[in-house]
Amino acid sequence: MARTIPILSLAAGLALAACVMAPSPVARSGAQDYGDYCAGCHGVSGKGDGAMAANLARRPADLTLLARANGGSFPTTRVMAKIWGYTGGKGGGVMPNFGPLLEGDLVPYDGGDGIQTPTPIRLVQIAEHVQSLQAR
Ligand code: HEC
Repeated sequence: MARTIPILSLAAGLALAACVMAPSPVARSGAQDYGDYCAGCHGVSGKGDGAMAANLARRPADLTLLARANGGSFPTTRVMAKIWGYTGGKGGGVMPNFGPLLEGDLVPYDGGDGIQTPTPIRLVQIAEHVQSLQAR
């Protein structure tokens, strides 16, 4: 009997860990979404050197320079708007349809105008990830 207790508690611990850790379809990090949706063109580092970049008619933007090009402040709203602009699949652009990134929870986001706009959390997270890639 004494030997079954550690095994049971291990099993319970694993079950608990699985509950806490199992990602629901939308519980993804900005880094994961960036890797899946952006890195193929913009590269893991954001420099525009992804595997597909060479085959594109237009060179993917170097996302590490966005803050520098914007007087040192990261243009979060513009980045989200860029992704958002591609979610309609209206064509014309090079980037694919990012519709899935709009699914999931909305979080209040203040783009600097003091107004909290409900914004898809995955958009905010990707923008924050791109911000973390900025050249210093
Ligand atoms: C199929 C290749 C491709 C994928 C995938 C892609 N991009 Fe792009 N991206 C481009 C190209 C090419 C440009 C430059 C032309 C343009 O602006 O449409 C660009 C431009 C941009 C710009 C504008 C930069 C500026 O100077 O204003 C941003 C921001 C951006 N991408 C972010 C993203 C993010 C975030 C993702 C992932 C959600 C992503 N891109 C996925 C190819 C891609």
